[in-house]
Amino acid sequence: MADAGMPQISRGLEGVYVDESSVGKVDGQEGRLYYRGYPIAQLSDNSDFEETAYLLLNGQLPDRQQLESITKQLAESRDLPKGIVDIIKEMNSKADPMDILRTATSALSAYDTEVQDASPEANMRKSIRIISRMSSIVATIGSVAAGREYVAPDKSLGHVENFLYMLNGARPSKESLDIMRVMFIIHAEHSSNASTFGTLVAGSTLADIYSAITAGISVLKGPLHGGADEASVRMMRAIGKPENTESYIESALAGKQKIMGFGHRVYKTYDPRARIIKEYLIRLQDHSSEEVRTLTAIALRAEKLMVEKLGQSHGIWPNVDFFAGPVYIAAGIPVELFTPIFAASRSSGWCAHMLEYWKNNRLFRPLEYYTGKIDLEYVPIDKR
Ligand SMILES: CC(C)(COP(=O)(O)OP(=O)(O)OC[C@H]1O[C@@H](n2cnc3c(N)ncnc32)[C@H](O)[C@@H]1OP(=O)(O)O)[C@@H](O)C(=O)NCCC(=O)NCCS
Repeated sequence: MADAGMPQISRGLEGVYVDESSVGKVDGQEGRLYYRGYPIAQLSDNSDFEETAYLLLNGQLPDRQQLESITKQLAESRDLPKGIVDIIKEMNSKADPMDILRTATSALSAYDTEVQDASPEANMRKSIRIISRMSSIVATIGSVAAGREYVAPDKSLGHVENFLYMLNGARPSKESLDIMRVMFIIHAEHSSNASTFGTLVAGSTLADIYSAITAGISVLKGPLHGGADEASVRMMRAIGKPENTESYIESALAGKQKIMGFGHRVYKTYDPRARIIKEYLIRLQDHSSEEVRTLTAIALRAEKLMVEKLGQSHGIWPNVDFFAGPVYIAAGIPVELFTPIFAASRSSGWCAHMLEYWKNNRLFRPLEYYTGKIDLEYVPIDKR
């Protein structure tokens, strides 16, 4: 029976504004995304990761000297302490790459002498170190998993080129580099999604920024959030052949399964990031491997069917994760690294939000409406 005194509860905080922010805007009705006012497509067409990270952290595009400065700071922070490489090696083959990333990022605090300095200047410096080193950690997770040793970073390379260099031990092709430039930019920020909120909840206790970012990584891991890109490519591989697509999707939907890479709490139309990745994939497909061509054909058939069945009628459209898999595979990225790469890129958005939130911090402490019993009499264990 409904309780007359029951407050209005918004499960999953759906529709609840928790603060103001000028970092990113998601317009879920029109399918638009802005970083500090710039439409995402302008950034993915024209920018690079360093410039985008500067924009997110500082609120405006850098001038030449500011861009050189952040590029240099990111490059100089890249090398990983031996203890971090040892953690990665120890956890390799025993743990999921997201678990390794979470543990190694948390452990970075032990090597940062400014960890307890909560001044805005120190937090900005720590943010840049975290953004830089999370990419090195992800590359090293991939390198160690492939049986290689730690590849020391090359400071002369850009952030994304160095990531691919540390991952593969070789300079990337122009094509792989451009794919990953786009992927790093479009994953960098997405307003108050679950992982950004998780970051802010941890930081709102005035825990240090390493704790906050570690919380963000934990929240990103799940298949309802960052893990959907891996789940969606695994589904495409399970479908196997393009002609199996419709029967696979129909039977999954009939079994009440969710199709990973579709649907979004805020976008009730096409996710603009999915549009960018889809266009990229279509441009790529003629000169990509057979596997990428097959996955692309499956993805396009699945998209058509899902949009027809659930698009207009239920507001379920492709999200950023749906087309990401084939694009990553075209760049030679193993599936296990998709979500860690998402985290390495998103660290810039998390840090930007954290720095903004700390300017006017308030502890997050929502309420729960208690529905359990009260005033029970304690019963000794041998009388229960
Ligand atoms: C992201 C997501 C959690 C947001 O959805 P939400 O606002 O919480 O909505 P719900 O999960 O409550 O779903 C609402 C309805 O749409 C359906 N639905 C949502 N996403 C669906 C999907 N991907 N495939 C099939 N049905 C879906 C649900 O089954 C539910 O149907 P019902 O009302 O008949 O029970 C959800 O769309 C989802 O799980 N998508 C798959 C995971 C994914 O791609 N995540 C990445 C997000 S960027």
